[in-house]
Amino acid sequence: MSTYRIPFNKPGLTGNEFRYMHEAIEQGHISGDGYFTRKCHNKLQEQLQVKKTLLTTSCTHALEIAALLLNINPGDEVIIPSFTFVSTINAFVLRGAQPVFADVRPDTLNLDERQLERLITPQTKAIVPVHYAGVGCEMDTILEIATQYDIAVVEDNAHGLFGKYKGKFLGTFGCLATQSFHETKNFTCGEGGALLVNDPKYVERAEIIREKGTNRSRFFRGEIDKYTWVDLGSSYLPSDILAAFLYAQLEAQEQTQTKRQRIWEYYYEHLQSWAHDKGVSLPIVPEHCEQSYHMFYLLMPSLEQRQRLIGHLKDQGILSVFHYLPLHLSEMGIRFGGKVGDCPVTEDVSERLLRLPFYNDLSQADQEQVINAICEFDNR
Ligand SMILES: Cc1ncc(COP(=O)(O)O)c(C=O)c1O
Repeated sequence: MSTYRIPFNKPGLTGNEFRYMHEAIEQGHISGDGYFTRKCHNKLQEQLQVKKTLLTTSCTHALEIAALLLNINPGDEVIIPSFTFVSTINAFVLRGAQPVFADVRPDTLNLDERQLERLITPQTKAIVPVHYAGVGCEMDTILEIATQYDIAVVEDNAHGLFGKYKGKFLGTFGCLATQSFHETKNFTCGEGGALLVNDPKYVERAEIIREKGTNRSRFFRGEIDKYTWVDLGSSYLPSDILAAFLYAQLEAQEQTQTKRQRIWEYYYEHLQSWAHDKGVSLPIVPEHCEQSYHMFYLLMPSLEQRQRLIGHLKDQGILSVFHYLPLHLSEMGIRFGGKVGDCPVTEDVSERLLRLPFYNDLSQADQEQVINAICEFDNR
């Protein structure tokens, strides 16, 4: 149980989760790729218009499949923003890649596409943009550069399901993209993820890697009469019980996104003048981006003020959190050559960013308490 009156995140139900989990059991197939996994695949494929969707046990695991699909080998370089979660790069480092840390744009906190070209070398195998907070990266430029140098683009879309860039769904730009259904995400099954395959040449091998390196998916479809070990792989497919839970969440897409939009807009509207007076920045969403309403953050004027505001909210029973610590300055990042000053925007925002409580069932009354507590905070 959270000791906070208003936690940072709270899992919520949309209505059909337990009924569907029960149905999954009644279907007699609760391992991977059962009835509800297929329903999730079809829903995501139809809506996003991707060639193939494969549910995975996490976004981390979907990224690991991507690294295997791209045949990442020791010495290959992978460009990622330093301002991201560790899995964005760890999945590639597991295959021997050298991380190349890019800085982020000061407005959207997304990979700064203007710095991309100077980071590319003959060893660059992939670029992994992260749609931070579900606001699209500048995909036109990123794809143009990637095409020019023949480099794969894998979108880490952990935050951005149903967000759009120039009218097109996030996750449909790179040859591959990954989703997260971790409990902090808009749609969840506790732990879960998905690989979106946009380039058809990866479909067959993606299925094999996800099924322990076997062609069992073809066997289940009746395309072959026995299955066997054909490639590298692991067990990356979730139980159909989790898929049943997730399907209920995905079915409630509209209602969930409407709630989250309302929460985001309420914070924005009620914190705008306070932020202006106190030199605090609120999230910036470019006009050509439709965000996924994944999170709401403040950029405080300094580290000291951010820490004081966290303490002030904590005293009132409200949990606010920060992230990400710059990857290039993490223990592993330094081992890969990261130094202070390599990514100045990341280093700066990582010290000042504060995420406010944000979950589907956050009531307006609770949100008002968060807003009042912030407005009472003296940050001179
Ligand atoms: C940008 C990003 N990528 C990947 C992940 C990993 O997701 P998962 O917990 O589903 O493995 C996260 C987790 O929050 C994330 O923020």
